[in-house]
Amino acid sequence: MSRLDSFIRRLEAQRAVLNWAASAIRGRDGLVLELGLGNGRTYDHLRELLPNREIYVFERNPQPNPRSMPPAEFLVVGDMAETLPAFEKRHGAAAALIHVDVTTGVPGRDAIAFGWLPAQAAALATAGAIIASGWALDHDKLEPMPLPQEVPKGRYFAYRRVP
Ligand SMILES: C[S@@+](CC[C@H](N)C(=O)[O-])C[C@H]1O[C@@H](n2cnc3c(N)ncnc32)[C@H](O)[C@@H]1O
Repeated sequence: MSRLDSFIRRLEAQRAVLNWAASAIRGRDGLVLELGLGNGRTYDHLRELLPNREIYVFERNPQPNPRSMPPAEFLVVGDMAETLPAFEKRHGAAAALIHVDVTTGVPGRDAIAFGWLPAQAAALATAGAIIASGWALDHDKLEPMPLPQEVPKGRYFAYRRVP
């Protein structure tokens, strides 16, 4: 498969997962946490899908497309290893949806480099919340969920926060 095909498939999978996750949290209170602003594409999609939700975005170096810059009060700037624990102290387990799109850029390294992240996501999520991630998260409070059929196996992962 060419890199272009692979890139397109990754974005299609991402969109399918975000669409699915947004409808799965309908009727459930809670914040949305976007981990990794990058260009702002997935943030932009989430805010379009969930216009009435508070969406907090975590990023150490915010340089998105200017049309996708979150309002200052919802942009948490800094290393997530520090900003997420601080956010947890302020808000507790308050998220209905967490989208994990932070990466080292080296496939296969994320689960090691961000070894602390699954427990942190579990701590920020309300019981029943959905955590969608571009890489597998291993934690006993995060129960794997089946994804929409069009998402190729292993391309995206989703979990429900169990009590
Ligand atoms: C794959 S990009 C996010 C793409 C974005 N969701 C989009 O659709 O455009 C990952 C982002 O995570 C950020 N990042 C990586 N490690 C981080 C860390 N430890 N703390 C905060 N941000 C981090 C990078 O700066 C990068 O912008």
